[in-house]
Amino acid sequence: MEKKGKVMMVMMMWVLLVLVLISISGSSAAANQQQHKDKKQTIPSLSLHRIGSSAVFPLRGNVYPEGYYYVAVSVGTPPKPYFLDIDTGSDLTWLQCDAPCVNCHKAPHPPFRPNKNSIVACSDPICSAIQPQDSNYRCEDPREQCDYEVAYADQAVSLGVLVRDVFPLRLNNGSIVVPRLVFGCGYDQQVSDPTISNTDGVLGLGNGESSIVSQLRKFGITQNVIGHCMSAHGGGFLFFGDDLVPSSGVVWTPMSRSRSSDKHYSPGPAELVYGTKSTGVKGLITIFDSGSSYTYFNLQAYQAFISSIRKDLNGKPLKAVDDETLPVCWKGKKPFKSLQDVKKYFSPVILNFNGKKAKLVIPPEAYMIITSHGNVCLGILNGSEVGLEDLNIIGDISLQDLLVIYDNEKQQIGWVPKDCTRLPKSGSAL
Ligand SMILES: *[C@@H]1O[C@H](CO)[C@@H](O)[C@H](O)[C@H]1NC(C)=O
Ligand SMILES: *[C@@H]1O[C@H](CO)[C@@H](O)[C@H](O)[C@H]1NC(C)=O
Repeated sequence: MEKKGKVMMVMMMWVLLVLVLISISGSSAAANQQQHKDKKQTIPSLSLHRIGSSAVFPLRGNVYPEGYYYVAVSVGTPPKPYFLDIDTGSDLTWLQCDAPCVNCHKAPHPPFRPNKNSIVACSDPICSAIQPQDSNYRCEDPREQCDYEVAYADQAVSLGVLVRDVFPLRLNNGSIVVPRLVFGCGYDQQVSDPTISNTDGVLGLGNGESSIVSQLRKFGITQNVIGHCMSAHGGGFLFFGDDLVPSSGVVWTPMSRSRSSDKHYSPGPAELVYGTKSTGVKGLITIFDSGSSYTYFNLQAYQAFISSIRKDLNGKPLKAVDDETLPVCWKGKKPFKSLQDVKKYFSPVILNFNGKKAKLVIPPEAYMIITSHGNVCLGILNGSEVGLEDLNIIGDISLQDLLVIYDNEKQQIGWVPKDCTRLPKSGSAL
């Protein structure tokens, strides 16, 4: 692990973070599901009474070398700018915070400064919603602050306190709204490498009650629908609400609620195909996680994937090489300049969901990168090496140039190939 360099470290950090954050909000799973069921029955159909509008945010960042996609938002009184890593793998949005800061890493903006009346009390229902299921968190005095704790799998811990403050948004319909939303004020980041951070925090886009979009839905501002479009050229866009969901062309599949994918966005079990041949690997538990830069396969899927690729590369002018960037790389006769130079040597990876009704085609461009050394490396990694066990994570690299929609109202996930460089005209963060 120590040899894999910065990108790898950052990447792993986010994967771990994501996994842990989910377990934290696990307690609200059942309640939340019930809530969604109720919602479905009460939402008026068609546009007679459209609930809410949408907000669109330009994305920044890329898979490599930055390692994540993020949005610029303004938060607080008065609003100040922050960069937040977009993370469909966790619920809680948090910013580095001067509460005071016990342990904050260097970030693009000064830490958020809460004022006394922005502190959320532990008696607030949202406070119990973010506590882990197995925690014995007790609210002794209802006026006490609401503490949260994020434990990283590499033993690092992030501590914070919930705050409620304004989160101004410019909506698609032309209105500007200034809801007071609950988010985390993270004052103690005990991460393994405190020098790296190009963001000020995380934008939690999971389906739990504490997520920003879930809160916007309660205020009737947007539907609980999230879409992201991450461009392979970097940047792209993110939206809340359903105004920009295409009426055709999207492959939809029901969100699955298996025990192992629990709080994550999962399109259900998948069959793995490389090129035109099935690898024979079926029943893969898969989640879509924008908080992970790369894709991770479990032991069996990774083994099948690697052998298919190696077979495919027989007689092709690529030689295995060590590159500090990622674990599996090849070099050519000359350094590669772009994926155009190498993609002909590889085949698409296909994940079939819901029988074969929903197919996710991952072209070579969405599972490989060209490093700064001109080598080509696989961006699908061995999940058991980072302790993932059975979960397969579809990360940013494989979600590039797709519009991916998480519809928490209808409990379905959809995707459609798209040029993500063009930002739809409409509302956004201020
Ligand atoms: C836009 O949508 C918001 C949220 O639903 C609503 O409060 C506002 O009145 C709408 N504005 C217009 C101009 O329709
Ligand atoms: C994946 O990682 C595990 C655990 O480190 C290892 O046992 C396995 O051989 C690796 N698989 C491949 C194909 O490299």
